[in-house]
Amino acid sequence: MAVGTVLVTGGTGYIGSFTTLALLQNDYDVVIVDSLYNSSKVAIDRIELICGKRPAFYQVDITDEAALDDVFAKHPEIDSVIHFAALKAVGESGEIPLEYYRVNVGGSISLLRSMSKHNVSNIVFSSSATVYGDATRVPNMIPIPEHCPIGPTNTYGRTKVMIETVITDHVEAQRRNNKKAGKPYDQWNGALLRYFNPCGAHPSGLMGEDPQGVPFNLLPLLGKVATGDREKLLVYGDDYASHDGTAIRDYIHVLDLASGHLAALKYLRENKPGVKAWNLGSGRGSTVFEMIKAFSHVVGQDLPYEVVERRQGDVLNLTANPALANEELKWKTQLTLEDACADLWRWVENNPQGYRQDPPAKLLEA
Ligand code: NAD
Ligand code: WQD
Repeated sequence: MAVGTVLVTGGTGYIGSFTTLALLQNDYDVVIVDSLYNSSKVAIDRIELICGKRPAFYQVDITDEAALDDVFAKHPEIDSVIHFAALKAVGESGEIPLEYYRVNVGGSISLLRSMSKHNVSNIVFSSSATVYGDATRVPNMIPIPEHCPIGPTNTYGRTKVMIETVITDHVEAQRRNNKKAGKPYDQWNGALLRYFNPCGAHPSGLMGEDPQGVPFNLLPLLGKVATGDREKLLVYGDDYASHDGTAIRDYIHVLDLASGHLAALKYLRENKPGVKAWNLGSGRGSTVFEMIKAFSHVVGQDLPYEVVERRQGDVLNLTANPALANEELKWKTQLTLEDACADLWRWVENNPQGYRQDPPAKLLEA
């Protein structure tokens, strides 16, 4: 008997696929909706290869409320939603803001409306540390606690702040309205999970990040340098106020991130807190130069780089204070940066075509 049934939007994407795997491994049933805009259905085959279970899948766009209604109607057993589906390219969000607001904010509204019609009332949402913007503008806010004032520096981040607001307003209204009507009200709950910098891959080498377009995050780009697809890494600025001049981020292994979603879901079900935000990070900050060194170490060669101008919108330091998640969710990162680098390299080295190739036999035998 399943512990529960979770609708995972964006479940074939990077973090969604690892969270689906963790849910299945912990006896949840999973129904995925994904438009496949930035992912491939092969992720589902790999999930099944690793855990022997397969989630239900529907190719649905989250802005299509009627299609979401059909999925909820077909699966009345769904009791919770984990909402990953979104557009996430920071640079692009400044070029086509209306599309980002339409998909991210509009899609979240369609989802909440459809959930409400089908009495599904727990939502775990993929927010981002980017909502804090430049936390160094506020004294003593590094490492960043959840009460740090928000102030995103880009359109993508502003969509995340808006969705956090929409979820909070809707959940609070549902609780108030139900209470007034004398109905049970505390079944409406939301977790706003602010991820720091997700990275890494499955230790089997069978699952990893495989976006449809070009990657723009540091570790996937370092992977491309290691395989020779890129000549060198461009380091965006070495004049930051850090010990080596490069910017600091809190890199979190995707397996730890996935388990954070299960912890949040459990907390919502057991404590019915209304809406709460939690940082999901390790609490350890690493500079770009430290990341180049760590990844070069697992690859076994010094990866070439060149220092260039700062990237517009980048901030000095985004390091989490994860104390609230540690205490309330009883969740803590278990894996190190070195684990993430080694797992990423195993994925990249063995699957140069990502999900567009079959996994090498040696991985299947392992
Ligand atoms: P991803 O692109 O791999 O996954 C997103 C998934 O959503 C993809 O499978 C994509 O096909 C799907 N999708 C996009 N638009 C859709 C639509 N209109 N309808 C249905 N499906 C749609 O990205 P990810 O890195 O796995 O990110 C997952 C979530 O976490 C996103 O909300 C992202 O904003 C958030 N997040 C990511 C990071 C990160 O660095 N990866 C950091 C913080 C927050
Ligand atoms: C990390 C560090 C760069 C590439 C972004 C989003 C954030 C979240 C995670 C979704 C920075 C430096 C990078 C390169 C470099 N995504 N860098 N050369 O910018 O911290 O966060 O992804 O929610 O919202 O803003 O991640 O991996 O792009 O960069 O020097 O080629 O590496 O300047 O200091 P970032 P990143």
